[in-house]
Amino acid sequence: MSLRLPGLTLGLAVFASLASATFHEVTVGKGGQLKFDPETLTAQPGDQIRYSFFAKNHAVAQSTFDNPCQIQENAIFSGFTATDSPDVAAPTTFIITVNDTKPLWFYCPQRNGDHCQKGMVQAINAPSSGNTFDAYKAKAQKASTPSTPPVGTLPAGGLRKLHVDVGFNADLVFNPNNVTELVGTVVEFGYNPANHSIVQSSFDAPCQPLESGGFIAPFVRTQQTPSGVTFEVTVTDTKPIWFYCAQTAKTHCQAGMVGSINAAVDGNKTFQAFKDLAAKAPPSTITANTPLVGVLKVNGTLINDVGSAVLNTTALDPSLIYEIPPPGSDYPPYIGGMAGGNQPGDYGWGANITDEAVEFLQILQLLANFKVAILLEGFTKLRYGEWAGAYPASITNTIGSLAAQALIHRRAYTDSLQHYSKDLMSVCQYTLPLDTVDDWLQALLTMMTLSMGANIDIISLAVTSDPWLVPALATALGSEARMTALINLMQNHVASTAPREALMPYQLAASFMINKYAGGGSCDAVKDQVKVFPALNITNKVAQPDGGRLTQVTVEVPSESKGDHWLAWIGAWGGVEYTVVASDGTAPVPDSLSGHVWVVLTMAKDLKVRDIETAAVAGPELVWTAQQWAS
Ligand SMILES: *[C@@H]1O[C@H](CO)[C@@H](O)[C@H](O)[C@H]1NC(C)=O
Ligand SMILES: *[C@@H]1O[C@H](CO)[C@@H](O)[C@H](O)[C@H]1NC(C)=O
Ligand SMILES: *[C@@H]1O[C@H](CO)[C@@H](O)[C@H](O)[C@H]1NC(C)=O
Ligand SMILES: *[C@@H]1O[C@H](CO)[C@@H](O)[C@H](O)[C@H]1NC(C)=O
Ligand SMILES: *[C@@H]1O[C@H](CO)[C@@H](O)[C@H](O)[C@H]1NC(C)=O
Ligand SMILES: *[C@@H]1O[C@H](CO)[C@@H](O)[C@H](O)[C@H]1NC(C)=O
Ligand SMILES: *[C@@H]1O[C@H](CO)[C@@H](O)[C@H](O)[C@H]1NC(C)=O
Ligand SMILES: *[C@@H]1O[C@H](CO)[C@@H](O)[C@H](O)[C@H]1NC(C)=O
Repeated sequence: MSLRLPGLTLGLAVFASLASATFHEVTVGKGGQLKFDPETLTAQPGDQIRYSFFAKNHAVAQSTFDNPCQIQENAIFSGFTATDSPDVAAPTTFIITVNDTKPLWFYCPQRNGDHCQKGMVQAINAPSSGNTFDAYKAKAQKASTPSTPPVGTLPAGGLRKLHVDVGFNADLVFNPNNVTELVGTVVEFGYNPANHSIVQSSFDAPCQPLESGGFIAPFVRTQQTPSGVTFEVTVTDTKPIWFYCAQTAKTHCQAGMVGSINAAVDGNKTFQAFKDLAAKAPPSTITANTPLVGVLKVNGTLINDVGSAVLNTTALDPSLIYEIPPPGSDYPPYIGGMAGGNQPGDYGWGANITDEAVEFLQILQLLANFKVAILLEGFTKLRYGEWAGAYPASITNTIGSLAAQALIHRRAYTDSLQHYSKDLMSVCQYTLPLDTVDDWLQALLTMMTLSMGANIDIISLAVTSDPWLVPALATALGSEARMTALINLMQNHVASTAPREALMPYQLAASFMINKYAGGGSCDAVKDQVKVFPALNITNKVAQPDGGRLTQVTVEVPSESKGDHWLAWIGAWGGVEYTVVASDGTAPVPDSLSGHVWVVLTMAKDLKVRDIETAAVAGPELVWTAQQWAS
């Protein structure tokens, strides 16, 4: 099977800009040498440099060329990092971003042994003549002592990061677990197998969350080392920080899975004292529906909310397409996490519901059934299937979160119908266009514009009939608008015009979806629930020469439909224009239109767009009116 990858142009553009931003690794004092390795570097604006530190206690500080070993004003400074091994890097690193090509002069300010004066210096983008690296180093070797700044000075101008492994080596430990860190350091916890969490406690009550203000990371079950899931906490003051893993299955906290940042080294509140107290502590708790407090990322992508205590990093499961939960029950918590939040606890339901609103919700659910199906199936292919790699992971993940949103929005409809004991629309097996990414994207975009149109129609009707519906409808509309923007971006169209937010009579939207995608026998029940108009068949299209705008179309008029026919061209904001269909089926295209326009064959020419369905004969169909016309 040949795969066309419309995302390739975009993908390459994104990768190209990343590819030019290089990550440079620099070791500081490796092998016990008083040396940066490499000592000189050429870096482009946007490049990042990561410093990793070895025994004994080094730092990176910025000076001017003229004054080595002395920190300059507003300098970059990593903070000192003490560690024992000359060969294994400390878990703390320092990352800076290069902003321009001006020379940068760095040195190690360790006074004990006068590292800078022993030549422990580095230059980024040093000129090859004049103020060269060698000239800087020679100056450093003659520089006065002591170097500045002293031990204890806080980091600036870059990211100082401490990495802590959660469940290191499959043991019930944090590694490191007893750290001294500077204010301003970001502590990055990396999850490993099997199922751990990170929760802040007080010293006195280990294995219990702080009553308020503490950080809380969810349980993350994973089989991968490392999992790619991280949790970040910033050290904001010098007070001791105590934390534990709240897993009760094997009483992780009591078994020693605890840690501290800036614990006292003596007295009665040391790390050891905390660990001893934890060993005797009552069972760990974190409350049900504990909110996430801290920064959770999956391979760099921020996860806003896990709704509850467990993040399941497994993919969205396409079986969810068919799963309509009863009201009050929940999707797995990670769905709400991926969607950026769950459905509301209170929809503001009225005492009763009008018959119109029941129909609105049923049609919206029908459209949502399809959207959920096409999004989940496409996401699965992009993430794990034949299309993996077609787009950068950030785009694929965003499709996943949009699929999760579609599930949450469908719940708003089904919860409401169930609340009033009304029938749901059955979910059927759709014929999904999944042969190529391009087909999938086009179908997704088409259905999104149609669904937005139906939403606009229904909002305008519900405003008077059932106003409690409006917030849910408007929220779904916003989510769909975001989706279409992303799909637009993923498509390879020439300067693609954004899809129009056309008002679409909701009956026509449902009809199009059923006609096009609900082919199989399992959809018969659905077909009985909605009026289905025949598809509008366009047999010929005439465009201006050189791929200009579309001027005329030829349509099929069913022989049993007698009388005059018009094409209704549905534009934005509820606008509509009619052109007459001649006896040979030809009809002009209004010259005011551009981009994608919905067309309906009708037996009237003076209806407001909302009422077109009362005189519709066939359609709607999406027609590209202006821009390159490919035969
Ligand atoms: C680049 O700009 C950022 C933001 O102002 C700053 O924090 C950083 O230190 C700059 N990098 C260098 C190498 O000066
Ligand atoms: C992870 O552990 C928590 C707490 O024991 C539990 O509620 C959750 O079900 C576990 N997750 C998985 C995926 O097993
Ligand atoms: C993070 O990325 C790695 C490498 O691509 C992958 O193996 C891992 O499954 C990802 N983690 C998650 C939670 O998706
Ligand atoms: C800890 O030490 C302080 C004095 O250093 C003392 O007042 C306190 O009672 C001690 N606490 C415990 C739990 O031993
Ligand atoms: C924790 O770290 C301090 C300071 O480095 C050290 O004195 C102490 O022995 C450590 N405690 C444990 C239990 O490793
Ligand atoms: C994680 O989610 C997947 C997909 O829904 C599901 O199949 C799996 O059972 C879940 N794992 C746990 C342990 O809940
Ligand atoms: C519907 O509920 C409203 C109050 O929310 C009430 O005024 C009205 O009479 C009810 N209508 C019916 C048909 O029950
Ligand atoms: C368009 O073609 C399809 C498939 O041949 C047919 O079922 C449908 O009735 C046609 N529509 C019209 C309006 O003739």
